[in-house]
Amino acid sequence: MALALTPLHPLFAAQASGIDLSQPLSAADVRAIDAAMDQYAVLVWRDQPLSEDQQVTMAQSFGTLDSALKRLRGAPDRYRHEATIDISNVGIDGQVIDRAHAKTASNIANQLWHSDASFQRPAAKYSMLHAVVCPAEGGDTEFCDLRAAYDALDTSTRQRIAGLQSEHYVLHSRMLLGDTHYNDAQKQMLPPVTWPLVRQHPAGRNVLWVGVHATHILGKTIPEGRMLLLDLLEHATQREFVYRHRWCVGDTVMWDNRATLHRGRHFDLSQRRELRRTTTEDPDSVVAA
Ligand code: OGA
Ligand code: MN
Repeated sequence: MALALTPLHPLFAAQASGIDLSQPLSAADVRAIDAAMDQYAVLVWRDQPLSEDQQVTMAQSFGTLDSALKRLRGAPDRYRHEATIDISNVGIDGQVIDRAHAKTASNIANQLWHSDASFQRPAAKYSMLHAVVCPAEGGDTEFCDLRAAYDALDTSTRQRIAGLQSEHYVLHSRMLLGDTHYNDAQKQMLPPVTWPLVRQHPAGRNVLWVGVHATHILGKTIPEGRMLLLDLLEHATQREFVYRHRWCVGDTVMWDNRATLHRGRHFDLSQRRELRRTTTEDPDSVVAA
């Protein structure tokens, strides 16, 4: 069967079907999915439960998998593969973790608008998040379209931000939440990287490249740069640019980190929520700007 797409939002995001993600993807499948990702930036696959191995195999069809975040966490998890990221409130013993567990802060940091791995070079290309257990209520994930956000900027803002660069740092979101337990080796493991505030997506459109990992703007004072980043983030995350995903077990959502931001939404932390993420590296992001 061929890839079928049904739009989920006026600007971006589509439900995808017609390809079995649990089976090896053909080159034609990968080309079709890449083209759909270039257009929609978020693809939602329903009702296709995947094992960890199947998910990793599927993800590898789209590039080299990123495992830097897992190395930063430093703690063992329940997964066999170096590149499988445990997006859950479950510990290594299979039990729901205590609210005071170190992992809870990084889970909550996922509730701030971000692009995965914008704090490193190479940054992330696609993330694929698969739902294994969903809470009865809450825990949705929201996505916003940074291409539409750029297009909607007025001329004077476009002129004001043209040529500006911001710095992104992995622990900024954690520090914002008061999570400061990292030692010097962890703090230095992923040194900050800089990006232009406006990037061009390989498919051609400009992207307003903001998110919670951005700490400041080069050449501006910290308060002035941070305020501009906050204003731009507020612009980019207006409701009209946002698609909200309500998870069901067996869903896989693929998103293009070069074109979108995302954030998790609140849920009762004592309820089990288990998602499994694989992320590919963006080879084009190796060269600065
Ligand atoms: C992620 C992420 C948000 C969520 O997996 O990268 O940010 O809703 N997840 O769990
Ligand atoms: Mn994320």
